[in-house]
Amino acid sequence: MAEKEGLFEIEKWVSERQLPKGKRRKKDYRDRKTEQYVFDIPTLETLYKFSKKGILKALGGPVSQGKESVIFHAVGGEGEELAIKLYKIHTAHFNAMLDYIIGDPRFEEIKKDRRSVISVWARKEFKNLKRASDAGVRVPKPIACDKNVLIMEFIGKEGIPAPRMRDIPVDILKADCELEELFIRILSAIKTLYEKGRMVHADLSEFNILMKGYVEREFEMWGSAPSRALPVPPQAPEGLSRKPRRGLAANTGAGIEIEPVIIDMGQSLLVNHPHADEFLLRDVRNIIIFFNKLGLTHSEDEIMRMVKS
Ligand SMILES: Nc1ncnc2c1ncn2[C@@H]1O[C@H](COP(=O)(O)OP(=O)(O)O)[C@@H](O)[C@H]1O
Ligand SMILES: [Mg+2]
Repeated sequence: MAEKEGLFEIEKWVSERQLPKGKRRKKDYRDRKTEQYVFDIPTLETLYKFSKKGILKALGGPVSQGKESVIFHAVGGEGEELAIKLYKIHTAHFNAMLDYIIGDPRFEEIKKDRRSVISVWARKEFKNLKRASDAGVRVPKPIACDKNVLIMEFIGKEGIPAPRMRDIPVDILKADCELEELFIRILSAIKTLYEKGRMVHADLSEFNILMKGYVEREFEMWGSAPSRALPVPPQAPEGLSRKPRRGLAANTGAGIEIEPVIIDMGQSLLVNHPHADEFLLRDVRNIIIFFNKLGLTHSEDEIMRMVKS
């Protein structure tokens, strides 16, 4: 596994830049340079703390870059694969985050400065993942969270993330999965989240469902890194290009199950939130639209009744 940035470098980086206690400098032009980057000094310090605790052994390359966060591949203390979600401090969505947090009774008493809000946001996603996971919904297992850094189970294999449901060409999806069964599985997850977790995802769509099993199948077929065949996430950062996909082999690696895993729960909310029902309807609608385009014929009313019954 090519680890581009070892924690060694982080350690060096942090120690070279650390100021003695009580001598922290005021914000100046030097911070402006780092604002575009996710690895500002406090973030490096947080990563360093995780490495000291034995939670993190090595940091891999970036997997995805969004407006609010960057996801990195990493290796944990036991050699297990991890995903690290680094929330950007200077995110464009800061005000939206603040709105969501203000509406959530779990986070009433918080400071409203940028760093505090983003730290609460990351903790909110961590708690939401934990709550969903405890309710029995398949999400990445949350492992640790501190400041703007969230560590969770990596969905994929050897640094290659599982494709999102929207990345899988229709013919392959149809060949690999009974569509009706996949649809019901995703709806059951929504229902379990609602009934047992008392939560609504609030940003559910084919973009936030990873299909675990494809990467593993490719490894089984090719016996090595499946760079030939996997879709590159469209939002992959520069420098993370892979060769064009040749198509995932259908119905091979039959022993490996394809499993939808729901991700991205920062904005998820509890069912007593004033807009919970609106968000639930939107989530259900997104999933129905996706599957109806592929040939299923479900109605919103029918499915909402099923979810809420
Ligand atoms: N636990 C994970 N394992 C593997 N890949 C992940 C994981 N979490 C996120 N990703 C990858 O990162 C992308 C963005 O993550 P997401 O949580 O949806 O953030 P956002 O949409 O807010 O940028 C996902 O589409 C997926 O490709
Ligand atoms: Mg997302």
